[in-house]
Amino acid sequence: MNILVLGSTGFIGKNLIKRLEPEGHRISTCSRSTGVDIRNYQQIRNRISETDPDIIFNLASHGGSMRYVREFGADVVSDNLQMSLNIYRAVKELNTKIKIIQPFSNCSYPGDSSVQYEENWLSGDVHKSVFSFGNSKRGIYYISKCYKDQYDINTVNLLFPNTYGPGDSIDPNHTHALNGMIIRMLQAKKKGDKKFVVWGTGSPVREWAYIDDFVEALVMAINLDNIIYPLNIGQERGYSIAESAIMIKEEMGYDGEIVFDTNYQDGDPVKIMSRQKFEESIQGFKWFDHRKGIANTIKYYEEKL
Ligand SMILES: NC(=O)c1ccc[n+]([C@@H]2O[C@H](COP(=O)([O-])OP(=O)(O)OC[C@H]3O[C@@H](n4cnc5c(N)ncnc54)[C@H](OP(=O)(O)O)[C@@H]3O)[C@@H](O)[C@H]2O)c1
Repeated sequence: MNILVLGSTGFIGKNLIKRLEPEGHRISTCSRSTGVDIRNYQQIRNRISETDPDIIFNLASHGGSMRYVREFGADVVSDNLQMSLNIYRAVKELNTKIKIIQPFSNCSYPGDSSVQYEENWLSGDVHKSVFSFGNSKRGIYYISKCYKDQYDINTVNLLFPNTYGPGDSIDPNHTHALNGMIIRMLQAKKKGDKKFVVWGTGSPVREWAYIDDFVEALVMAINLDNIIYPLNIGQERGYSIAESAIMIKEEMGYDGEIVFDTNYQDGDPVKIMSRQKFEESIQGFKWFDHRKGIANTIKYYEEKL
């Protein structure tokens, strides 16, 4: 297959390419660091035209920490929507048979939801801590729906929890939550710190997707069609931040004390994803063991740092 990966240099993009390469697909890359700014219509149009894909994985995204997406909210929303508008316009003009597969973050669910059921996805406001980013994802869904309705463009929209695993950035300010905690704890261990500070109360419960599971779900989506209203890719199983910190400490062999800095704001209290519709759509999915995923991630950062 001819596959174009937008956001190919990101955490998900790099891992997806590694997973797809041995299968003999023709894979093309695309990000600003490979010379294409998707906010620029002509640049993304040229890239789609020259690569002529059957499938576009849209993994390009402007995101960051809760603090970042609050401080730079206007840039976050405008970049994400501009990229999406450009992608759909180019697909409409070049080849409406291209399938677009795109993951959304579950922070786009209403802030007060605990178990996140697809039917409630749009039934309340996104939590204020991620207002710009969460609403960008909803905006991309609206764009995909309108392009399906008018031009019959085939999109598969999937909702994922926070993801962790090897292959993410080594900068703790730019990694995703669990990886950031692993990096910071490794640094504390190296320095011999007696205390490790966790931001917030430690009580929020989060579901985590291991990178291999995320990528496997994207690959399975190649065989799905027209999932415009997004499908959860979740296990309906969460861990509190405190529980995760303890698991990391145990796997790493760090002997300092874990303390909680309540000056940092907690996000939503509980975020786990209903798995019912996923199990109806995709049978026999084998989830990666969480503790083993943490151990693999620690090993990755021990080698990188
Ligand atoms: N990681 C998670 O925990 C998670 C969970 C759920 C859903 N998702 C979704 O999965 C997707 C990928 O996430 P990720 O973690 O891989 O993100 P990431 O590591 O931040 O990567 C983002 C990618 O987008 C590219 N990009 C950003 N702005 C661009 C622009 N203007 N033009 C071209 N490329 C641009 C970046 O490359 P350059 O900087 O070189 O341009 C990079 O390759 C996102 O839509 C995200 O919402 C991720």
